Amino acid sequence: MTRHAAIVGIGSYLPERVLTNADLEQMVDTSDEWIVTRTGIRERRIAAAGQATSDLAVEAARRALESSGVDGSAIDMLVIGTSSPDYIFPSSAALAQAKLGLACPAFDVMAACTGFIYALHAAAAAIESGRAERALVIGADALTRHVDFEDRSTCVLFGDGAGAVVLAASEEPGVESIVLGADGTGAEMLQIPAGGSAAPATPELLAERQQYIRMNGNEVFKFAVRVIPTATREALAASGHTVNDLEWVVPHQANQRIMATIAQRLHMPEERVFSNIETTGNTSAASIPLALDDLYTGGRLEPGNLLALVGFGAGLTWGAAIVRWTLPALPGRA
Ligand SMILES: CC(C)(COP(=O)(O)OP(=O)(O)OC[C@H]1O[C@@H](n2cnc3c(N)ncnc32)[C@H](O)[C@@H]1OP(=O)(O)O)[C@@H](O)C(=O)NCCC(=O)NCCS
Repeated sequence: MTRHAAIVGIGSYLPERVLTNADLEQMVDTSDEWIVTRTGIRERRIAAAGQATSDLAVEAARRALESSGVDGSAIDMLVIGTSSPDYIFPSSAALAQAKLGLACPAFDVMAACTGFIYALHAAAAAIESGRAERALVIGADALTRHVDFEDRSTCVLFGDGAGAVVLAASEEPGVESIVLGADGTGAEMLQIPAGGSAAPATPELLAERQQYIRMNGNEVFKFAVRVIPTATREALAASGHTVNDLEWVVPHQANQRIMATIAQRLHMPEERVFSNIETTGNTSAASIPLALDDLYTGGRLEPGNLLALVGFGAGLTWGAAIVRWTLPALPGRA
């Protein structure tokens, strides 16, 4: 019998502090109207001082464990997709493991905004091969720590948060297929130039603000709308499905216009491409599990629904996962 990995629990967390477009109008030369029409974002959350990525991850993980009914002691593997780890090392996964009181192996996966899909791939493969029974897969980022709040072209986009799923071995699918991609020739399109081994932070580099995110927005936009429809179709083909079988596409929340273009190119109605970007902004690796949890707790998922979780980001990297939803339906929000 084929062994599958299925989502048996889900949870997410957003920090309390809200940063609205009106707040940003006070910080840089921008307007609510520009941000809303160009990105779809109205507000985003900012991690509190002293609140690091592992803290966001732990909140989401607790909720996912609770939703699954699985005891932490039964988790065999903890993986966090993140590109804003607490430290270079130890990993945020090791820190979260201790805070959650778990005893399993723990590691971070760094694939920028595609981090959750890469982490899902690693955990699902471990379960399918029999190396693990249950895994906690988290996407968590406090990317606003790396945002230049003097650069209007990037600071309006990002927010902080975390989302988590519990994956478990199952006779029924689950995660039906995952397609991953990377193209390092596009590395310079989206990067944090200083602070790593290539260019350790020096007073000169800090004065040039090179410790912050640099992005060629137009090129990243074109890359996203090119790779995502293709990767989605590839992942669908790998699991024997077509676009018509999909109930929902749950994309990385980077820009509403990117999501609209993806819908168009997949010939899907935009209402089937789930969006919560208005209130979250781009939360990087957290965005897909956060959106999935919103969709689920909003009462819009039923067992048997077929979903495409699709992400893209720095690297450049991208990924698409086809998932059969197996959790019981929840009542819709009032
Ligand atoms: C960043 C992004 C929103 C910019 O939107 P755009 O429609 O491409 O806008 P442009 O970059 O062409 O800029 C248009 C104008 O708006 C200006 N502008 C940029 N940011 C602005 C802001 N926050 N407020 C007001 N004006 C702004 C630019 O300076 C430019 O002015 P100019 O025409 O006088 O030079 C868009 O390119 C995008 O979302 N790209 C993808 C980014 C992404 O997803 N990154 C994360 C990937 S994981």
